Amino acid sequence: MTVITNIQDLRAIAKRRVPRAIFDYADRGSYDEATIRANRADLAAIPLRQRVMIDVSERSLATTMLGEPVTLPLAIAPTGLTGLFHGDGEIHGCRAAQAAGIPFALSTMSICSIEDVAGAAEKPFWFQLYVMRDRAFSASLIERAKAAKCSALILTLDLQIQGQRHRDIKNGLAVPPKLTLANALDIATKPSWALKVLMGKRHSFGNLQDRVPGADSLTTLSQWIAGQFDPSLSWKDVEWVRSLWPGKLILKGVLDVEDAKIAATSGADAIVVSNHGGRQLDGARSTISALPKVVEAVGDKTEVLFDSGVQSGQDILKALAHGAKGCLMGKAFLYGLAAGGQAGVTKAIEIMAKELDVSMALTGTKDVRTVDKSVLGG
Ligand code: GLV
Repeated sequence: MTVITNIQDLRAIAKRRVPRAIFDYADRGSYDEATIRANRADLAAIPLRQRVMIDVSERSLATTMLGEPVTLPLAIAPTGLTGLFHGDGEIHGCRAAQAAGIPFALSTMSICSIEDVAGAAEKPFWFQLYVMRDRAFSASLIERAKAAKCSALILTLDLQIQGQRHRDIKNGLAVPPKLTLANALDIATKPSWALKVLMGKRHSFGNLQDRVPGADSLTTLSQWIAGQFDPSLSWKDVEWVRSLWPGKLILKGVLDVEDAKIAATSGADAIVVSNHGGRQLDGARSTISALPKVVEAVGDKTEVLFDSGVQSGQDILKALAHGAKGCLMGKAFLYGLAAGGQAGVTKAIEIMAKELDVSMALTGTKDVRTVDKSVLGG
């Protein structure tokens, strides 16, 4: 029996529990995976400043993200195919996040639909939008997010074309999962996964079924994305989304200062510094190396959130020290979900919160809202 002490333990359990193709989809990056490695390595290389003999008996992790109170500066990132990591995975994830007092973001490419999650959630959640070729369909997704009372819309900017993930192609990743000779043995060794996913409400893209042609056919994910996603997207489409969505708007996938400046004037309430978890442009710089310049350029105009590589409370502290208002966790969430459903996600959030709390204490920090550069170096 593994004693779970960190996110890597959840990852190890997830690897044993879910089929290889599903695990790899979350775990791996695009092409040579230089960017996914850089995200983690650059965070790890940042020294925190040890301070001693400061009374840290009273500490607080509570703050706000997009004006919403949060128990710690962390949100669950939108992740595709979540309901294939655990049956009804989006519902489990949303419930765990809301019980812990942090936001949950539902992906366009989710298995449970917006309505499935709204029916099961206690509070509003965030919805992530991919603008597809069929603009009328994209507009209808925005309407559905409004009807579900989503408290923010996250528009993803960095996936007009998909960066190739070699493993997904080699594994024949398909939605719904295909039972092939090659993966039958693998699935046979994961009966509890199969049972839970089979018992889940859906096995294909819940937001798209019956609405987008081919959304429920046996196609590989990469082929499907190539057919549906729109390489012609531009800032004009951001204006269009802004005109349709009156609520909080988050633009996700900004790495470059010039893009950040445009994003900040587009009426967005927040931007997310992200390279899509190292899954898109391989060779792109790490998000933590990009963050300070983005904050310097637009931090006084819009809220800057941080994504890609966040797998510990220390990572959160480092991102805050570099000017982020909060972080998003994608892989760490999916590892927890695959390892143990709602309880696994709760565990992942607890691990991150505890690590953040202890790291704050050991840097002499009492209130997360006061974190700045002074916790670095030394
Ligand atoms: C989708 O967002 C993906 O990264 O696969």
